[in-house]
Amino acid sequence: MKIAFIGAGRLVQALAPAFHQAGFEVAAIAARSLVPAESILRTIDGCQIGVSAQQAADMADLVFIAVSDAAIADVAGQIAWRPGQSVVHCSGATEVSALGAAAAQGAVIGGFHPLQLFADPVVALRCMAGSSVAIEAEGALQASLQQLAQAVGYRVIELPAGARGRYHCATNYGASFLLSLLREACDLWNSFGVSDAQALAALLPLARGTLETAQAKGLAGAIAGPISRGDADVVALHMRELMALNADNIHLYREVSLRLLRLAKEQGRLDAETLARLEATILAGR
Ligand SMILES: NC(=O)c1ccc[n+]([C@@H]2O[C@H](COP(=O)([O-])OP(=O)(O)OC[C@H]3O[C@@H](n4cnc5c(N)ncnc54)[C@H](OP(=O)(O)O)[C@@H]3O)[C@@H](O)[C@H]2O)c1
Repeated sequence: MKIAFIGAGRLVQALAPAFHQAGFEVAAIAARSLVPAESILRTIDGCQIGVSAQQAADMADLVFIAVSDAAIADVAGQIAWRPGQSVVHCSGATEVSALGAAAAQGAVIGGFHPLQLFADPVVALRCMAGSSVAIEAEGALQASLQQLAQAVGYRVIELPAGARGRYHCATNYGASFLLSLLREACDLWNSFGVSDAQALAALLPLARGTLETAQAKGLAGAIAGPISRGDADVVALHMRELMALNADNIHLYREVSLRLLRLAKEQGRLDAETLARLEATILAGR
């Protein structure tokens, strides 16, 4: 299986060397301008770097279109594809149908979205094993992508057609939304003179501990704090404080607390009466 990449950005600078190191043949990397981090890509023996997109596609059985999301459909539409050739993109939010021009010429299309940050190729390569990739493909292409994923140490999430919007939305909850919750916490501490740096020095270990406990004991097993203890008085205190500050995050606090209550129910430590009292307290803080 000869592999080619179209695009030479952050993702390719890690994924192409990873495939090569895992023993796969990376035949070509197409770039429309000067190749950044060319020295990294030059370590791939026998790989033609900086060829045109058409030349790269002609040299490969499996082509990764790894350009900016908005350019995927255009790039796919500018290439003459061979029937039976495989073409995938690496975007999380873009539908596989963006490769429709390739499918119309008989190519087999799919998606290969690594759940990883590729800001630094060296770090991304180091963190690849144990990270995950979402694969949307069928038949022989799915088998090939699974083989590639496993060879570089990715865990595989199979993405059925039609689930991509929900899949990508969930990644926000698992990553960036955590940051917005920490922002809320810092803002509250800022209000009595604690700086962001001091706040994060205290809160990040707390967050790490929570995530590590969740890894060991599951989400419901990791909850801590007043809701997990059934302490409605402390929840009421939090809500009074937020209202006194005229903080607009009372809505956020209420919604997140109601979701946390579901986890407390799942954990099974609190009786029905305590759960009902907690729910009434949270809803009363409107
Ligand atoms: N970065 C991440 O953390 C990450 C994680 C998971 C998935 N992905 C996905 O991986 C794909 C690539 O992302 P990236 O972060 O590697 O992007 P990037 O660093 O911004 O690089 C994009 C590459 O695409 C090329 N390109 C853009 N528009 C093009 C066009 N119209 N024709 C030809 N080439 C074009 C760029 O060339 P120029 O340099 O000439 O502009 C560059 O080589 C995207 O689908 C992204 O969603 C990224």
